[in-house]
Amino acid sequence: MKIPFIRILPFLLLLLFAGCRDDRVIRIGVSQCSDDDWRRKMNEEIRREILLHPEARIEIRSADDSSAKQIEDLKYFVDENFDVIIVAPNEADALTPVVREIYESGQPVIIFDRNIHGNTYTARMGVDNEEIGRAAARYARHLLPENMKAIEIKGLPGSTPAIERRRGFDEELANLGNGRVVASGFGNWNHDDASRMADSLLREYPDANLIFAHNDRMAIAAAEVAKSLGLSPYIIGVDAAPEIGLQAVADSLINATFLYPTEGHRLVRMALNIATGKPQEKEVMLPLSSAVDHTNADILLLQNEELIEETMKIRELKSMVDDYWNRHSAQTTLFYFSIAILVLLFAVLFLLLRAFWQNRRHHDALREQNRLLEEQRDLQKSLNEQLSEATQAKLVFYTNVSHDLRTPLTLISGPVEQLSKADNLSPDQHTLLHIAEKNVKILRRLINQLLDFRRYENGKMDLNLSEVRFAALLAEWTETFKALAIERDIRLSIRINADDDATLAIDTEKIERVFFNLLSNAFKYTPDNGRITVSYETFPDHVSFSVADTGRGISEEDLGNIFERFFIVDKVRPKGSGIGLSLTKAFIELHGGTIAVESKLGEGTTMTVNLPVRHVDVAPAHVEKLLSAEEVAVELGPIESHPEEMDESKPLLLVIDDNQDMRKMLDELMKEDYNMIFASSGLEGIAMAARYVPDLIVWDVRMPGIDGLETCRRIKEEISTSHIPVLMLTACSREEERVEGYESGADGYVSKPFNIEVLRARCRNLIANHQ
Ligand code: FRU
Repeated sequence: MKIPFIRILPFLLLLLFAGCRDDRVIRIGVSQCSDDDWRRKMNEEIRREILLHPEARIEIRSADDSSAKQIEDLKYFVDENFDVIIVAPNEADALTPVVREIYESGQPVIIFDRNIHGNTYTARMGVDNEEIGRAAARYARHLLPENMKAIEIKGLPGSTPAIERRRGFDEELANLGNGRVVASGFGNWNHDDASRMADSLLREYPDANLIFAHNDRMAIAAAEVAKSLGLSPYIIGVDAAPEIGLQAVADSLINATFLYPTEGHRLVRMALNIATGKPQEKEVMLPLSSAVDHTNADILLLQNEELIEETMKIRELKSMVDDYWNRHSAQTTLFYFSIAILVLLFAVLFLLLRAFWQNRRHHDALREQNRLLEEQRDLQKSLNEQLSEATQAKLVFYTNVSHDLRTPLTLISGPVEQLSKADNLSPDQHTLLHIAEKNVKILRRLINQLLDFRRYENGKMDLNLSEVRFAALLAEWTETFKALAIERDIRLSIRINADDDATLAIDTEKIERVFFNLLSNAFKYTPDNGRITVSYETFPDHVSFSVADTGRGISEEDLGNIFERFFIVDKVRPKGSGIGLSLTKAFIELHGGTIAVESKLGEGTTMTVNLPVRHVDVAPAHVEKLLSAEEVAVELGPIESHPEEMDESKPLLLVIDDNQDMRKMLDELMKEDYNMIFASSGLEGIAMAARYVPDLIVWDVRMPGIDGLETCRRIKEEISTSHIPVLMLTACSREEERVEGYESGADGYVSKPFNIEVLRARCRNLIANHQ
């Protein structure tokens, strides 16, 4: 199957662009428990790291120190199907079940900074908060070698760093043995709560010489309170985030702080390792650094500023890279689009060229076809001209011959007529003369038709109109065929109202000939026992008469040609010259009328003539009546026969011929020497041959139905009849026909018209040879 290129092009382009894009995005959700300087630093580190991982997206949410809100945030990350969830749990009790649930559902979850109970998490990044507490205790001893009275301001009660830092600090202080915690309270990691707590504790223990706050914000709050109370204890915090803790140490607001590492970038890498299935340790503990005090705070601040600057540069670089990347992407897209457009253009060009060539080829083919058609038309034209010239020549020739034939014909018909009236004729002689008379009439009519046709063609035929009562005339003409109809057992129905007085102008002689032609055709083609109906109808502007028969009908193919001159329907056994109907049509058209034919093979034919109604003031002149019952009987009727008795001494001769006259004539000519039997069709002939086993069979090659050749073949194949000599009669002297005849088993032939003596001699010889 061929798929047009243009159809698959969109898919190719889609593939092209789809191939240029990587859809894999790793989404990381970070749930911070709070929003403060330390966490802002961490968030900054996370975002900075993310810049280096274009495949990753980050979303950071802050719970603002509310465990309930943090649970909501975590649910959001779960519902949105984040690839990895990172959480710094606000309070261990509240967050442990939620984290466990996430972990157990199979969604990766990382814990950092603060902890939950147990280890139902994918990974944890944390700091040893106990060690921070211990380090703070050790640093305090360094500040106050003797008699340390410490106030401890703790973080949120339920958060693990608060618990662990307190434990480490208290235990280390007890170990060192030079001090004790005189008072402690929760500052909840924030400035205000710590401020209130420091105020109440300092007022109660104004002699306290050390404050350990769990983060810098709370340490600063305590420092402010102490200052306001006129006290100056040593103050230690935790975090060392640059904006608050480091700055407070640098400003000598507090004495020291411990770096609580943020390491946001490591957290991101951990998350990416987990999301991409790379190996990742479950517990990652970050190392601790030593205390930050006035000796190193400035340097750290400076480093931080540089870091900020570097970060900005990185950001700038990143935005430039992004910019370049965007431009590159745009250019790549443009590039692919250009290629696609080019491909499209080529495709269109290709199609256009193809269409152009096809069109050209088509055009050439059409031109060639045109040329051939023109050639054919010219040829046709010249053939037509030749044909019409030939036809004209033929007509001229026929006309001349017809003229020449008229005289001898008259000279034959006169004596034949005279002879037939003689009293002393034997019945056989009478029959022979009857045959001659009939055929002279047929010949004369044919010659007249030919001459009339020629006159018509040359435009020399006039109409002799006279006013007649047409209905009566038609009825009268039809009556003349009655006797013939009875003789042939044909039912002739006349549907004419003979009382119809209406008159119209016609050329009586011509219409009579039209009528004779139509009705005699009907009789010729209608078998005995058939039916012929003549009808007449009048209309305001025309009259119509029709002749319908139940003959064998005309094929659809022939229907269109029957009015053509010389057209013969039955070419095997022609019953006319092919001129009668075309002359009929000519006569009708001379009257301004029309003739139409309807026919169905095997059912019959109806010829309908329409003549316009017109009137002249001319009474019918006396025209010699063309039709009389006798004439019709002579021309169309059978010739009477005189059956003979069988004479045992004579050989038996079977004649097979569908022409009744031919059978009659052969009977008359041969019956003196032979006992004659006759068959009018091939099938009948075969049956009679088998039944009577004659001494000789004479048969006509051309017959409708089973033709003569087939008849001969069957007779020769049948054992009982195969020995009978067969003599064929043929109107055609073509060699091939003779060969065909001999091949079918014929023993001899005689071509028509034959000399009776030759026929008699051939018959005698054949019988003698066979004997
Ligand atoms: C920030 C913070 C820090 C502290 C840490 C303990 O939210 O309070 O100051 O060190 O959390 O988790």
